Amino acid sequence: MPDNPQGVARHVAIIMDGNGRWAKRRGLPRAIGHKRGVEAVRTLVRSLEGTGIECLTLYAFSSENWKRPEEEVSDLMNLMRNFIRTDLEEFVKNRVRLKIVGDWRALDADIVAMLEDALERTAHGTHTVAVALNYGSQQEIAQAAQAAAREGEITPDAIERHLFTADLPPVDLLIRTSGEVRLSNFLLWQMAYAEMIFVETLWPDFTPEHLKAALSDFAKRERRYGGR
Ligand code: IPE
Ligand code: IPE
Ligand code: MG
Repeated sequence: MPDNPQGVARHVAIIMDGNGRWAKRRGLPRAIGHKRGVEAVRTLVRSLEGTGIECLTLYAFSSENWKRPEEEVSDLMNLMRNFIRTDLEEFVKNRVRLKIVGDWRALDADIVAMLEDALERTAHGTHTVAVALNYGSQQEIAQAAQAAAREGEITPDAIERHLFTADLPPVDLLIRTSGEVRLSNFLLWQMAYAEMIFVETLWPDFTPEHLKAALSDFAKRERRYGGR
């Protein structure tokens, strides 16, 4: 289990929640909340340099989010398309390595093609932004266990090798916005020893300053990994 002597969060994961409530409070359609949520992502990704974060994993669409009305799902998919179109160049320029976790190959064929291109073009980036798309942690663990079983023994190490996140360090810090205190099927395995911070801020209002505050809170925590 890696420890973290300098209090630096190498891997930060965020459940970006509250877009709908942000819009509702302003009497706006939910789609506007999601749009503002994308802007918050853009600003945050631009602020990563100097934070020490090697990987930022963002929960963008869960495997359970298909239960939402068709119109909202389609708004979210269109935002994804636009985001890749408008922001890919900046990712490449800023040496961001894009990674997608989840069953993203089941998305619409044009999105899959755009993502394949984006992954290829950002492959040499130095820090990772992982986007969880059509992601469910229980499904991920089940398929990893099946793959481990096919190879031999189902051990924690073998399961880990088959997770989407096999090439990433374990999550050091989870942040969830909007006041909800639950994990909603996100990175359950990877967060075995993560520190967690739940904030009331709705996702579209989350700024790099909020992230900095969370990182300094994290730095004060004593992590024990079961030891003493
Ligand atoms: C998070 O905002 C974005 C996604 C889940 C895609 P929500 O849409 O869940 O916003 P609330 O929770 O309804 O406010
Ligand atoms: C979790 O938020 C998924 C994402 C942020 C993409 P939800 O809003 O879907 O979670 P629940 O339904 O409140 O647990
Ligand atoms: Mg929500």
